[in-house]
Amino acid sequence: MAERRRSRTSADGGAGWVGNRFEVTVGPVAHGGHCVARHEGRVVFVRHTLPGERVVVEVTEDRHAGFCRADAVEVLEAAPDRIERPCPYSGPGKCGGCDWQHVSHAGQLTLKAAVVREQLSRLAGLDLPVTVEALPGGPLRWRSRARFAVERTGGPGLRRHRSHDVVLLDDCPITVEPAAAAVLGQRWPGAGAVDVAVDSAGVVTTTRLDRRGQATSTRVLRPGADVPEEPVGRAQRSAGGRDWEVEGTGFWQVHPAAADALVGAVSDFAVVRPGETVLDLYAGAGLFGGALAPGVGAQGRVVCVESDAAACAAADANLADLPQAEVWQGDVDAPGLTELLDELGRPDVVVLDPPRAGAGREVSRVIAGAGPRAVVYVACDPAALARDVAVLAGAGYRLEALRAFDCFPMTAHVECVALLVRA
Ligand SMILES: C[S@@+](CC[C@H](N)C(=O)[O-])C[C@H]1O[C@@H](n2cnc3c(N)ncnc32)[C@H](O)[C@@H]1O
Repeated sequence: MAERRRSRTSADGGAGWVGNRFEVTVGPVAHGGHCVARHEGRVVFVRHTLPGERVVVEVTEDRHAGFCRADAVEVLEAAPDRIERPCPYSGPGKCGGCDWQHVSHAGQLTLKAAVVREQLSRLAGLDLPVTVEALPGGPLRWRSRARFAVERTGGPGLRRHRSHDVVLLDDCPITVEPAAAAVLGQRWPGAGAVDVAVDSAGVVTTTRLDRRGQATSTRVLRPGADVPEEPVGRAQRSAGGRDWEVEGTGFWQVHPAAADALVGAVSDFAVVRPGETVLDLYAGAGLFGGALAPGVGAQGRVVCVESDAAACAAADANLADLPQAEVWQGDVDAPGLTELLDELGRPDVVVLDPPRAGAGREVSRVIAGAGPRAVVYVACDPAALARDVAVLAGAGYRLEALRAFDCFPMTAHVECVALLVRA
């Protein structure tokens, strides 16, 4: 099969089926926001469609023997969940920022649940029902933190799907208005990208990045002010009944309601008791550790581990009123975690919220080896979660409960919180 494809691509300059149009009946949704169809024995990953639809596709990429990628460019039979796109910039060949502008919000939740269920089944051998919970506020104007690209002449926008091309934008309807206006309402000559974040006090922070992705300057715009200023102090956020400080465009949940929802789920799963020891791995500004610290009380201990120096400084400030909580700056990797556990002893609860790649095999094994009564895993990629759940299962932990949240409406992303207990 691989050879057949190689000879076909070399014969036509490497394009294969690119540009070809044909009709398909669309099959199930897959991880990544597309649906699976088949044509002449090959898998076609189709964007801008829904399971069950009959569509004409145009092939956009053909680089692999087993599959190609395509956009649905004409809908012959629409699924009941199809809607008019609220964003004029989305659609085949347009902005690559959202996956599911053409899907009702209820339909998006169903698709996300199917993806989580399929990943857990395929990668962890688990068959369980999944419901994705909507957050308050609807599917638009939720993005409080974003990175916009800047094209050569200084125009801001977002990249086309799987491309470096920048689609120029006047607005981004999933981004909160002050953030969209602060970046898209002006030109950024010489910049490569602009990060923007709006905190809970309405202060807009913009950070200009050069073409290598290095931050070159940061400005804040206070509510009611016309002129941006140099930042003084950190951005303010609130979640779980506490106020938090974070670096202006440093990590914080993007959806304004997400931190509250995740803190609630983590607290409900962890059920910490006075005197217990909690390890909060990939702790950011200390969100989960800080939320759990009151529950372990003065006799307990919460250790937050985070690699980023600015996030650690913010966590130190956030946890200053909780003497049972401490912040350790370092990488969560197998040797570092083993060393920490040697010093700490057996934790009762491990909370982890790793980046997209997940914790990985080695770190998951060290966590299981430490023998906590509960592991609470917060995951922004269900595939990484499923892989790590499989490793934890092999080391004696079973998935006891799972909640999933729609923290990224209009996109295929979903946030999960899983509780694993010793089998
Ligand atoms: C998804 S964020 C979670 C932050 C925090 N739990 C929250 O909800 O605000 C992941 C965090 O892990 C940190 N991080 C990434 N890789 C790391 C590593 N190998 N060791 C420690 N921290 C890491 C990042 O700096 C980031 O703050």
